Amino acid sequence: MHYHVLTLFPEMIEQGLNTSILGKAMNKSLISLEAINIRDYTTNKHLKVDDYPYGGGAGMVMQAQPIYDAYKALEDKVGQKMRVVYLTPQGKVFNQEMAKDLAREEHLVFLCGHYEGVDERVLEEIVTDEVSIGDYVLTGGELPAMVMIDAISRTVPEVLNNQESAEFDSFHDNLLEYPQYSRPEIWNGKQVPPILLSGHHANIEKWRREQSIMRTLERRPDLLENANLSKKERIFLQNLLANK
Ligand code: 6GU
Repeated sequence: MHYHVLTLFPEMIEQGLNTSILGKAMNKSLISLEAINIRDYTTNKHLKVDDYPYGGGAGMVMQAQPIYDAYKALEDKVGQKMRVVYLTPQGKVFNQEMAKDLAREEHLVFLCGHYEGVDERVLEEIVTDEVSIGDYVLTGGELPAMVMIDAISRTVPEVLNNQESAEFDSFHDNLLEYPQYSRPEIWNGKQVPPILLSGHHANIEKWRREQSIMRTLERRPDLLENANLSKKERIFLQNLLANK
């Protein structure tokens, strides 16, 4: 997976993603990351990349030319058309399913906007996907791009040490994760649930699935609509609902 980020703040992208699991994945060449400075492509002699909005209004608009030229230079270098994700609160809200879908690409381009927006004409010309990371407003697309790159990368084979941790995390089967416990057995007067010490793997699995269902019902009931439940688990959920 090769990520290319078009941004006015390349150091933010580089600094933000070079540590921990993603840093290791880059060292192992499982993923690569290139931050492209849009300003390097401006034809303006003062290196300007933005201007006032036609029609008036507050703030500045990022101009089409430097963004288009930065993308075209990348397309020439890579030698193929690529999906271009524009980060905007007006986009489709990002989720795990979108992460998995985007992870099937060999190359992904992220366009990070700033100021009051980007000239619509360049968006029409190069953008294939408009994505938001939630219903709140940020100052730019860099943090959303980093969030997406993190979520996509952890679905790439071998990026996580233990492939199971991706498989069984929150949102597997559209359920939240069950609670976890580690040593000591009693901490602050609180016992670890005895079933986890029982050694009965089948019972532990069943308990964990039930905890996941209970948590999802309490915290994110909207997810249950698409949850992947067995017949027995559906009955368990019906009983929870009946006893609420
Ligand atoms: Cl993708 N961009 C900005 N600027 N703000 C956001 C966002 C994106 N997603 C949520 N808020």
